[in-house]
Amino acid sequence: MTSTLRPSSSQADPRLSGRAVKRIAFDEATLARRVSELGREITAAYPDGDLLVLGLLKGSFIFLSDLVRQISRPLQVDFLVASSYGDGTISSGTVNLVYDPETRLEGKDILLVEDIVDSGRTLNRLMTILKERKPRSLEICALLHKRIAKELKYGTKFVGFDAPNEFLVGYGLDHAENFRHLPYIASLQ
Ligand code: IMP
Ligand code: MG
Repeated sequence: MTSTLRPSSSQADPRLSGRAVKRIAFDEATLARRVSELGREITAAYPDGDLLVLGLLKGSFIFLSDLVRQISRPLQVDFLVASSYGDGTISSGTVNLVYDPETRLEGKDILLVEDIVDSGRTLNRLMTILKERKPRSLEICALLHKRIAKELKYGTKFVGFDAPNEFLVGYGLDHAENFRHLPYIASLQ
């Protein structure tokens, strides 16, 4: 059995537990193409230095694992865990750091990998914390950007796609911890 679903048949996707998707925002092939381009952009942007790819869990886990395999230079991987949404679909505004990277950040080129930029609050808080650790450089790579982040104080150097202002799930993104395993990104009904 193939695990590849065409957008037209996704309404019947058994992974959705009966919930219909409104539409597929980004299908598997589109994601793979853009992630591969991002890998090339990142490779070119870091000709030297110690690159540390820092994934923000849980949302970035699929994107990060695909992305690092498209970066053709030495790098290390670590993770951060922040919680901001709880079980809802509206940002609570509070960002808690639940897991801190064990790796030393000083002098390294840090690439913070995020699934989606919504209000920008999560990144503001994390970037402020990470800057204090004196990395050589600190940049953001976000798969999706809703472009509504009026509060974001930092530039996003690498962005996969501009995202529609809808609640999206799949490819790491969840709704109350469900749907992270969808290989495509969809908006829910
Ligand atoms: P921000 O702090 O408002 O920018 O929210 C960023 C975090 O909220 C992301 O890392 C996601 O975990 C979550 N988030 C924002 N928008 C969505 C969405 O459309 N679907 C799923 N999670 C989202
Ligand atoms: Mg979430």
